[in-house]
Amino acid sequence: GRMLEPAEIIQELNGLFKPDRYLAGQKILITAGPTQEAIDPVRYISNRSSGKMGYALAKQAKLAGAEVVLISGPSNLEAPQGIKTIRVKTANEMFVAVKEHIFGQDIFISAAAVGDYKVKDFSDLKIKNNKENLTLTLELNIDILAWVCARKLEFNLNLITVGFAAETHDLERYAKEKLMKKGADFIVANDVSCEDIGFDSDENEVVIFSRAGMMPIQKASKEIIAEKLLREMFK
Ligand code: PMT
Repeated sequence: GRMLEPAEIIQELNGLFKPDRYLAGQKILITAGPTQEAIDPVRYISNRSSGKMGYALAKQAKLAGAEVVLISGPSNLEAPQGIKTIRVKTANEMFVAVKEHIFGQDIFISAAAVGDYKVKDFSDLKIKNNKENLTLTLELNIDILAWVCARKLEFNLNLITVGFAAETHDLERYAKEKLMKKGADFIVANDVSCEDIGFDSDENEVVIFSRAGMMPIQKASKEIIAEKLLREMFK
């Protein structure tokens, strides 16, 4: 009985009138949003990712004919119409969901801002503010993208892997480093030093890095960036 949001109706209509289904038959797994690592039952460590970039990729991939599964960290965005969306909180939960769905996919896009660290000794009880200083020990989370790239090699999977790199400086150097270190086929680098692009904004500006070279995509809405990224990498 509930009417779809007008934006969703327009998106569905776009799908009907857009015959270019260049991702038809492709299965795509996308991660989006932040992760949350609990400190105690009421506090957590997270980051400013809204999920907009990953959700835009999921919607555009579906419009282009792909079968999409979206694994999303905590985000205020509604699950996109017609896309299987799995909600998780922690990096470990995201890892478990990726492990469960990765085999049989054609493309993996890791747009999530996965927390690098989790709190080592999670407190079951709320921590009281009765000390002048409080020290939290953090330990590294598993690198989900690197794990997927390693499985691709191990099992000779027919899978294209795409990571993102959120950088505040030396974009090219760090993006190239991530390409090699994580073993991805593409790294999409975004400069997150400005407020109006990157984290929690409606627009983005990116550079695609691959072993073949680099390709900048000018500032635009995340929907347009997503569409251009998919065409550039997979058409
Ligand atoms: O969600 P929005 O508000 O729309 O913002 C979009 C975005 C800025 C979050 C997105 O475009 C982006 O850049 N996502 C990746 C952010 C990030 O965490 O980058 P990184 O440099 O820390 O990680 C590099 C890559 O490894 C990423 O693909 C990340 O998903 C992956 N990673 C990182 C750590 C980890 N433990 N596991 C991972 O899989």
